Amino acid sequence: MLGVCYYPEHWSKEQITSDIPRMRELGIQWVRIGEFAWSLIEPAPGKFEWQWLDEVLNLFELEELKVILGTPTATPPKWLVDRCPDILPVDKEGRIRKFGSRRHYCFSNSNYREEVRRIVSILAQRYGNHRAVSGWQLDNEYGCHDTVRCYCPSCQKAFRMWLENRYGDIDTLNEAWGTSFWSQRYRSFKEIELPNLTVTTPNPSHLMDYFRFSSNQVCSFNQLQVEILRELSPHRFITHNFMGGFVDFDHFTLAQDLDLASWDSYPLGHTISFFGSTDLEESYIRRGHPDISAFSNDLYREVGGGRFWIMEQQAGPVNWAPYNPIPAPGMVRLWTLEAIAHGAEVVSYFRWRQVPFAQEQMHSGLLHPDSTPGPGFYEVQKVARELANIELPSVRKSSVALIFDYEAAWVFEIQPHGEGVSYLHLVFQFYSALRQLGLDVDVLSPRASLEGYKLVVVPSLPIVSKEALESLQDFAGIVVFGPRTGSKTETYSIPPILPPGPLQELISLKVTQVESLPPQMEKVHWQNREYPVGIWKEWVETELQPEMTFADGRGAAFRYDRYYYFAFWPGEALLVDFFAWLVKGAGLNPERLPKGLRLRRRGDLVFAFNFADQASEVTAPATAHFLLGSREIQPGEVAIWRE
Ligand code: GAL
Ligand code: ZN
Repeated sequence: MLGVCYYPEHWSKEQITSDIPRMRELGIQWVRIGEFAWSLIEPAPGKFEWQWLDEVLNLFELEELKVILGTPTATPPKWLVDRCPDILPVDKEGRIRKFGSRRHYCFSNSNYREEVRRIVSILAQRYGNHRAVSGWQLDNEYGCHDTVRCYCPSCQKAFRMWLENRYGDIDTLNEAWGTSFWSQRYRSFKEIELPNLTVTTPNPSHLMDYFRFSSNQVCSFNQLQVEILRELSPHRFITHNFMGGFVDFDHFTLAQDLDLASWDSYPLGHTISFFGSTDLEESYIRRGHPDISAFSNDLYREVGGGRFWIMEQQAGPVNWAPYNPIPAPGMVRLWTLEAIAHGAEVVSYFRWRQVPFAQEQMHSGLLHPDSTPGPGFYEVQKVARELANIELPSVRKSSVALIFDYEAAWVFEIQPHGEGVSYLHLVFQFYSALRQLGLDVDVLSPRASLEGYKLVVVPSLPIVSKEALESLQDFAGIVVFGPRTGSKTETYSIPPILPPGPLQELISLKVTQVESLPPQMEKVHWQNREYPVGIWKEWVETELQPEMTFADGRGAAFRYDRYYYFAFWPGEALLVDFFAWLVKGAGLNPERLPKGLRLRRRGDLVFAFNFADQASEVTAPATAHFLLGSREIQPGEVAIWRE
C-alpha cells in the first residue's frame, strides 16, 4: 500500500540502480515518476531521448515495482514556449507569466492543447502497454500557483464562446447579469472582456460565469488527455493528484473522467497556511491540525467515487509554507495510517531523496541528499511492517454526510461581505465539530445520493439547484443548513422571494437583512448557555419559534420538522454542543473526545490518533482486540482495535 515519488532524471545511473532495490526493501510497491520530465524526454522539437526512461522502467519491472507514469504537461519545455509564446498564461494584473518554474501554460490555448495531444500520444504509444506501467497521473496539481484563472487572449476568446453557448443571445445575458446597473449593457458577445483590471469590483455574475468557465477549461484539458490514454493504454488506471483545500475548479466534475482520485497531503504546510501560526495549538504546528488531512481524505474518497490515494505524503519538512517545521516523531507513520483509516488505497511519499539543487533543495525527502536515511525513512519502515500484519476491511458509508460545493466557495469569494467570511473556514468548523464527537463523515457533492445517511450537514449552499432541492426533500433524515444557504440565484442575484430562496419550501422563513461583524461581537443563547459568535448574522422573519436566540431576543436558529437553519456563523464550541445533542436524537453515539484525539472507522476496525502533546485514553470496549497500540495512547501514536 506504500509508494514513493521519484525523479530518476535528477540522479546518476549508479544511484538509480541502488535506489530501486532499496525502495523494495523498505516496503515500497508503487513509484510515481515522470510528471516534470518533458524536456528530458524531448530535448528538442521531435527529437526524443528514451533510453534513460526505458532503462528505469525496465529496472522497475525487474524489481516488481509498479509505476504511475506522469504526463509531463505541467512543464512545457523552453523550446516549445519560444515557438508558441501564446501558451504562456496571463495573471490578473495582465502580466505574462514567464518560463522558468512550472505550470506556465494556459488551459484554453489551442496550440498548447495540440502539443499536449502530441506528447501524451507519443508517451502512451511508447509506454502505454509497458508491464511496469500500472497507471497514469495526468499533469500535476491543476491550479497550483494560482493557475486556473488566466487572463490571456485565448481565454477571452474561449470565454465569449462559452457565454454564447450558455445564453444564446446577448439580451438574455444582459438580463441575467443585471447590466442595467452602472451602464454595463453589451450589444454582442464580442464586446465581453475578462473580469480583471476593472476600476472597482467587476459584476459578480460576470465573475461567477468566468469562474465556471475556468473550471470547465481545466476539466476539458484533463478530458483530452484521458481520451488518448483510454485508447492507447488500456487496463491502466488514470488519476490526477489534487491539492488539499483548493477550490478553484469543480473536482467532482473533473474526477468523473478519472478511475480514482489522489491528493497531495502536507499536513503541516496546510495547517499553517490555513490557520496562520498565531491561533494554533502548539502541538498542531508539528503534528498538523487533527482535522486538516481528515477532511481532504473524506472529500477525495467521494471525489474519486469511493477510491482515492495519497499521491504525495509529507515525510519531513516542506519548503513552501509560512513556517516549515520538522514533524514531531511518529507523525509520518500516523498520517499514513490516518489516510488508510479513511480508505486510502495507497500512500505515496514525497519524495525519495532530497534534491540538493534547484527550487526544492530545502524540501526534505525520505533520504538526505547524501542518501543516508532521514527520520521519515525509519517511520515508513515501521509502518510498512505493521501494515503487513493487518488485514484491512473495506470502507463503509458513514452515518453523517456533509455537502461540499465548489460553486458555494466561488459565491463567498466573489462577495464575502466581510472579513473572515470564507466558505472553507465555515465548512471546516462544521466538519471539525462532528469529528470532535468521534463521528465519521462523508463529504459529498450536492448532486450525490443521500440515501442511507442519518444526518446531512449543509454548512452553506448559496445556489440550491432543483436537483439538490429534490434530493433534500426526498431525504428522510435530519438536515442542518448553515447561513447564506439559498441566498443566490444561478446567475448570482438575490432570489425574488428572498433567501433562503427555494429552501423556503422546506422551512418557512425569510432572511430580510444580513450583516457581517467582528468575530465574537454577538452572543447566542441556547439551552441556558451563552456562546460568543460573530462574522455573519441574518435577520429572519418567520412564524417559527426560534431554537436559539441572539442577545436582543431575535431568532438565531430555527427548526421545522427535520430541517434546521442557522441564521449566523456558528463557532466551533456551539457546534460541538449542538451536534452532541442533535445526533443523540438521531440514534448516533456521540463521544466527546479528549483534545487532539480523533477516531475513524474502517469496516469493523476503529483507528485512534493522538495529535495532542499529552497522552490520552481511548474508550474501547473491554472486549476490544487491539491490533496496534493500546488503550493508553501517547502523543503522535495510533491505536487500532476491532469493534
Ligand atoms: C506539490 C507538488 C510537488 C512538490 C511538492 C512539495 O505541490 O506536486 O511537485 O512541489 O508540492 O511539497
Ligand atoms: Zn489563458
